[in-house]
Order: sequence, then C-alpha cells, then structure tokens
Amino acid sequence: MSAENMEYLTVALPKGKVFNKAAALFEKIGYTANGLSDKSRKLIITNEEKKIRFIITKTADVPVYVEYGAADIGVIGKDVLLESAKDVYELLDLKIAKCHLMMAVPQKFKRPQLSDYANTRVATKFPHIAAAFFNSKGMQMEYIKLHGSIELGPIVGLSESIVDIVETGTTLRENELEEYAFIADATARLIANRASFKIKFARISKLTEDLRKIVNKK
Ligand code: PRP
Repeated sequence: MSAENMEYLTVALPKGKVFNKAAALFEKIGYTANGLSDKSRKLIITNEEKKIRFIITKTADVPVYVEYGAADIGVIGKDVLLESAKDVYELLDLKIAKCHLMMAVPQKFKRPQLSDYANTRVATKFPHIAAAFFNSKGMQMEYIKLHGSIELGPIVGLSESIVDIVETGTTLRENELEEYAFIADATARLIANRASFKIKFARISKLTEDLRKIVNKK
C-alpha cells in the first residue's frame, strides 16, 4: 500500500437512493467533506483534516472498488453485495435503504404453488440471487437478466415472474404484480477490504463502532 493510501481512509459511496442517507450517517460521526454530493462531477472529495476521502461510484461498482482495495470501506445494499459475490468483509448493517428481495408474479395469472413455476422464465437484475433461491427449492429456471424496470417483464410476456427488490410496494401495485415469495432482507451494509481491515484496523473499527452507536439509537 502506498504512503498516501496508508494516510487516508478511502470510502466508496454509491450514487442514487443510498447516497444521502449514507453521507448523513458519516456526517453524524464527524466524517464529511466539503461538496460531498452524488451530483458532484468531482469523483474524489477529500477532507484533509480528517484524512478521509470519499469516492462516488455507480452502485454496482462499490464492491469492486472495495474488493481490489481502491477503497478501504464502502456502503452498499445487501442485494448488490449478494449479487456481486465479492470477497469483502461485511462489518455492519446500517439499517438504511430498507427493502427486501422477493419473487413477484402477475396477480391475474397467479399459480397455486411455487413449484408450479418450475422451468419458467424469471426476469431479474439479480440472476445469482434468483438462482440461489430457486436452486434451494430444487427448481430449474430460465433467468433473463434485465438492467431496470424489471416489473415490465411479465406484463409484456417476457417472463412468468420477476426477482427484484421491493421498498414501498408501489411499483408492484401499479403494474398489477403481487409479492409471491420472500427471499432476503436487503438494507445497506458497511463493507471493508480484507487487507485494509487488518492494516487500518484501529481506524476502521473505531468508525464501525461509532456508526453502530448511531444506527442502534434509531
Ligand atoms: C427499484 C426496484 C423496483 C422499485 C421498488 O427500481 O427495481 O422497481 O425500485 O420500489 P417500490 O417498492 O418503492 O416501488 P429503481 O427505482 O432502482 O429503478 P430501476 O427499475 O431502473 O432499477
């Protein structure tokens, strides 16, 4: 690790829904930086006094930066973390961005049992999570990877079901879909690079404990 990398703690934050909530948690424990915003075109924002720098990345890339040690720690939804299957430490459930992973089907064509969906097509952003779920039920499926608007899949006949995250349930309702099977909770997690966790143990464990106090107070 270079001298500069040793001096700073680098934190990867994802653009989008989680960003403001994660930045607010860091601010509460005294870590922030001028101009820290996911609208910023500047992608590294440093607080020289605290020797901390934030990098702002696409959501799916947070576990990549952390696994390679380009970021020491990061904040990422459990859904993206599970799907990425990256070799990182999961340090803390930050209990923000509450949502869960589930299988949903069209209300009108609901089949009586889960096994009635065997050998059908599933549209999803999370093919690994979906496959782990259906494999655990002994079901073979065909997975169709989409990058967004997953709920469209069954409506236009692309698939019989979806595996996706649900937060408020609005998107399911508005598209006449219904949650059919729960898969996993998917709040945002604090993750760490394995080597950074050892080399910067004191800083990372203090930060984790400070965050834990804030998270548990809520
Ligand atoms: C996510 C998810 C659902 C929706 C669930 O999509 O894929 O579509 O949010 O939220 P709700 O239960 O509150 O309606 P996102 O908004 O991230 O956009 P995407 O479809 O482009 O992935």
